[in-house]
Amino acid sequence: MQNIAIYPGTFDPITFGHIDLIERASRMFDRLIVAIAANAKKQPVFSLDERVALAQQVLLHLPNVQVSGFATLLTDFAQQHGANIILRGLRAVSDFDYEFQLAGMNRRLAPHIESLFLMPAENYTYLSSSFVREIASLGGDVRQFVPEVVVKALSKKVIV
Ligand code: COA
Repeated sequence: MQNIAIYPGTFDPITFGHIDLIERASRMFDRLIVAIAANAKKQPVFSLDERVALAQQVLLHLPNVQVSGFATLLTDFAQQHGANIILRGLRAVSDFDYEFQLAGMNRRLAPHIESLFLMPAENYTYLSSSFVREIASLGGDVRQFVPEVVVKALSKKVIV
C-alpha cells in the first residue's frame, strides 16, 4: 500500500516553516500533495493561482511532492486523490486546540483518513504567513523567512 499524504493550508505565502515541514514529510511518504485552499474567508493577499505558482517554484527539488489548489471540502479533495493521511504542522501548544478540532471534524467526515502532525524546526516556531506579510508591508526584511521568489512577489503587492 502506498502512503499518500495531503498537506493542506492557505500558504499566503509559503514560508521556510512550511518548506521545512514539506521536506521532512517528503522523506516519509510515497507521495505528498501540498493542497492550497482557496480559503476566501481569510481574504488571502495572493490569489489561489499565485499561491500555487509560488509553492511549485520553491518545491521543484522534491520529485514526490505535487502542489494543487482546491476549493472543496478537504476530505473530498483527499479522497479524490487517494490520500490516506492529512498532515498538519504543530508549532506550539497554541496550535493544538484548533488542530484537535480540525482533526476531529475531518475524522467524522472521512473516518479512514488519519491526521498526522509534524513539528517544524524550532527556529520556525514563531513564523506565520501573516507576520511575514505584515513585516514586508512595513518595509522589513523577510529574507530569513521566505525564499527569494516570495520576497519578490511580496514586494510587488500593495498590502493594506
Ligand atoms: N511554518 C510556518 N507557519 C506555519 C506552519 C509552518 N510549518 N504551519 C502553519 N503555519 C501558519 C500559516 O502560515 C498560517 O499563518 P497565518 O494564519 O498567519 O496566515 C497559520 O499557521 C495557519 O494556517 P494554515 O496552516 O495555512 O492553515 P489554515 O488554518 O489557514 O488552513 C485548512 C486550514 C485550509 C486546512 C482548512 O481551512 C480546510 O481544511 N479548509 C478546506 C475546507 C474544509 O474542509 N473545511 C472543513 C474543515 S473541518
